[in-house]
Amino acid sequence: MPLLDISNLAVEHGKLRALWDVTMHVMPGERVGLLGANGVGKSTTLGAIIGLYRPVSGEIRFDGHPIHRQPPNANVARGIALVPESRRLFPEMTVRENLEMGAYLRGARSVMADSLGDVFALFPILKDKAQQNAGELSGGQQQMVAIGRAIDVAPASAAAR
Ligand SMILES: Nc1ncnc2c1ncn2[C@@H]1O[C@H](COP(=O)(O)OP(=O)(O)O)[C@@H](O)[C@H]1O
Ligand SMILES: [Mg+2]
Repeated sequence: MPLLDISNLAVEHGKLRALWDVTMHVMPGERVGLLGANGVGKSTTLGAIIGLYRPVSGEIRFDGHPIHRQPPNANVARGIALVPESRRLFPEMTVRENLEMGAYLRGARSVMADSLGDVFALFPILKDKAQQNAGELSGGQQQMVAIGRAIDVAPASAAAR
């Protein structure tokens, strides 16, 4: 069964139709990239998955549950995390504090030591820079923090609980 299953999705921004009839799925353990020219609707697709945009038609299912009428906080609680465009870090907070912000939900907070360990194993440089302000890191390192924060939102161990 697909982990993420999108069928016939249509999304509008006001009167402007951004997506027509998008159908795609992601199997457990699979990685799927979405490629396309500027303005074709990649960000709108991701925004619809996380719950920022409510589709005018079509369905999004995650782990078998319909999520296309759910707000972002409910989808985050299901274990979906968005790494936002342009990173959106808190530049005046330390790397560690930025990562901790990902583990906002109680379930994520209780396993934060593990998920921080996962992030530092994946991006060892972040361990060295944990006490530095995020805004002082290079662009690539800041991207690591943004990805790490998303890992803390939905720790791998959450799937096992
Ligand atoms: N918040 C918004 N309000 C109005 N139109 C938007 C908004 N976001 C995106 N669009 C429009 O929706 C279409 C798809 O945009 P987007 O999903 O950002 O494309 P991509 O990420 O592939 O570059 C474009 O025509 C864009 O101008
Ligand atoms: Mg985009």
